Amino acid sequence: MKKLIIAFLFISLGLFLTGCRTKEVEVPLIIYDYDDLYMQQFEELIYDNKNYNSYRFESYDSKNSQIIQNDIINDVFLDNPRVIIVNPVDRLGVYPIIEKAKEKDVPIIFINREPLKEDMYSYDQLFYVGAKPEQSAIFQADIIIDLFGGNSYYLNELDKNNDNNIQCVILKGEPGHQDAEIRTERVVQELTDRGFHIDILIIEEAYFSQEIAKEKMTDLLVEFGNTIELVISNNDAMAIGAIEVLKEEGYFVDENDNGVIDRDTETWMPVVGIDGLPIALELIDQGYLSGTVLNDSKSMALAINELTNALVTGEKLSDIMSDLEDDKYIWIDYKKYTPNDK
Ligand code: GAL
Repeated sequence: MKKLIIAFLFISLGLFLTGCRTKEVEVPLIIYDYDDLYMQQFEELIYDNKNYNSYRFESYDSKNSQIIQNDIINDVFLDNPRVIIVNPVDRLGVYPIIEKAKEKDVPIIFINREPLKEDMYSYDQLFYVGAKPEQSAIFQADIIIDLFGGNSYYLNELDKNNDNNIQCVILKGEPGHQDAEIRTERVVQELTDRGFHIDILIIEEAYFSQEIAKEKMTDLLVEFGNTIELVISNNDAMAIGAIEVLKEEGYFVDENDNGVIDRDTETWMPVVGIDGLPIALELIDQGYLSGTVLNDSKSMALAINELTNALVTGEKLSDIMSDLEDDKYIWIDYKKYTPNDK
């Protein structure tokens, strides 16, 4: 009997220790809004590029509400997480989240929506993985310049009224978002600095949303119709929304019905986006979208996983991450994409 009890105790201890060893660390991944097309793909890539066994992700949807996001964060902090990943709803309102993390000594990896510098430097365990919006605007300007023939003195036939000005409408993302503000300002500045005359008919806020862009584009066509020579969109989702309306209203006509717009013979309108969503790349192939800039979520996903693993396992960051700027920032380059890049 004694032997049996001892054997039982040994087995129980063994099971207990095995349990301890294999208990996975749960890393909350808190997304600002599951309805955002780019974030849907980004989240998937974060999972797909998880090359480590030291943790597993648990995702949360903040439903585009800072109140919901704050509740989620309060809840996850109750489990004493080793690290949390936050895609803020309001990048200007993260201070209370940081205060809480500081109090609990939990690192935060912010993604996609960049907090203000003063917030980022208020605690040494804050990280940001993202891209510099200026770069996307410069690439978008390159695409536009190529489209209009490359010479600021003699625009090509896309200058429909031949006034050597590009009449454009700009679909802007969410006001206050670094990408919406900087992409909008910088693309115009870049074109102007390079000698191109840009005549902005209107800047419409469509909050990065395909649906809102559809509504706005419908109104813009009533207001400006054929005078529009170019649609500049802060992201692909809004560009796609605009294209849907332009198609319905006869600004794209696939006359021979072969599924592709032949730019030499068929009616079309230049629309440029940013993100490089798979569906946007298809629209480029079909001749509807004139170009996009890849917002490289795959490289971001790899960096997020590398950083998460290091924070979970306690590795020294400077030993493994050479591209960590100021012990805080990982910047991922945008990439230009046009049909000619193929
Ligand atoms: C941007 C992206 C947009 C939208 C936004 C959400 O980087 O270009 O499409 O997803 O992030 O914060």
